[in-house]
Amino acid sequence: MKSVLSERKTLHPQDIERRELPPDAGRAVRELAREICTTIHRSSRGAAPVTRTLDDAALIASIEAGARELPESVRLAMRPPAGSAGATIVSRLPLTDEEFGPTPPSWREAARWSADPQRGNSFQLDIAMLLLARCAGEPFGWSGQQDGRLVNNIVPTPGHEDEQSGASSKTLLSPHTEDAFHPDRANLLVLACLRNPDLVGTTVSSVRQVELTEDEYRLLSTPTLPILPDVSYGKGHERFTPPPIPTVWDAAETGSGATCQTLRYDPAYTPLDDADPEFRSAYARLTAELERVSHTAALAPGELLLVDNDVAVHGRVPFTARYDGTDRWLKRVNIRLPERRRRAEEAHENGYGQRTVAPFRMGNGRADAERDTTPDERGTVEHS
Ligand SMILES: [Fe+2]
Repeated sequence: MKSVLSERKTLHPQDIERRELPPDAGRAVRELAREICTTIHRSSRGAAPVTRTLDDAALIASIEAGARELPESVRLAMRPPAGSAGATIVSRLPLTDEEFGPTPPSWREAARWSADPQRGNSFQLDIAMLLLARCAGEPFGWSGQQDGRLVNNIVPTPGHEDEQSGASSKTLLSPHTEDAFHPDRANLLVLACLRNPDLVGTTVSSVRQVELTEDEYRLLSTPTLPILPDVSYGKGHERFTPPPIPTVWDAAETGSGATCQTLRYDPAYTPLDDADPEFRSAYARLTAELERVSHTAALAPGELLLVDNDVAVHGRVPFTARYDGTDRWLKRVNIRLPERRRRAEEAHENGYGQRTVAPFRMGNGRADAERDTTPDERGTVEHS
């Protein structure tokens, strides 16, 4: 897919909001993560499931308690993006390249190696990510993604170079809403950079910066087509009736009563051929506009990209993976913002049978109940 996105390499675009973790706040997050890591290792004797899925009850309790102890400046840095770009870069999470070992060849090895001192130890950073994410909202995972792990690893994977997935490299990862097919998709997405020596760009485009005619907006806000689960969810979604959904709409803003533009967009998994030419034309205009307003951020180690998943789509420019342990490595966390409401109609969507792992969901105590142990391969090819 030809795109102008691949030709842009703005290191730190001015129009993406930037924030810094104050030095004491960054240190507090890392030190607390180190303490929790030590305690968990001692109590579990390094048992693999703790590091594999991160939803161990003792670990969750430590994160809950720890997040409350962190300085207020952490919560301020992790609040949702404020500008119209729908994205914020938070910098200065202290880390060094030596502490994680080589970039793993897939999410499975990343999880397996995370507690292995011989191959790097990113478990501590997983805990830091959960602490940061808990300061923003409710971190959650997907039962069918990376074994339900609450912190995902995004690394290029041999054999997946040309897919529309986070494991890809050579192909442009088209802009998309994360898990657009599902009513429980994240409100906020955090992509944290451990390593990015080739300055591979992550793209973000906001619906609040696009220009559409009234007719185009009306067409796109009419529920017309479904968004299907991506290939990484495997087979089985065919038994569910795909609900037609709007692509853009005005959502009520929490507290103010004002409305703000919102989108749900993943062209790679939208059956556009089923729509009439008028709708397809409006959708093509939206795609062109999202490219026009796209910003590319080449994240540096210790930087976190916060993406408002209701406002901005994200993607990644193509790159050539080396598979020598030095490739780009991101950690990703999905976050639910409990104060944010979705369209009432979404409550009736089936989500194609995919379920969340939500141990921080307030008041539901569903951490274990929501675990689905059915193995599938979604995590091998999920989006970045
Ligand atoms: Fe993604």
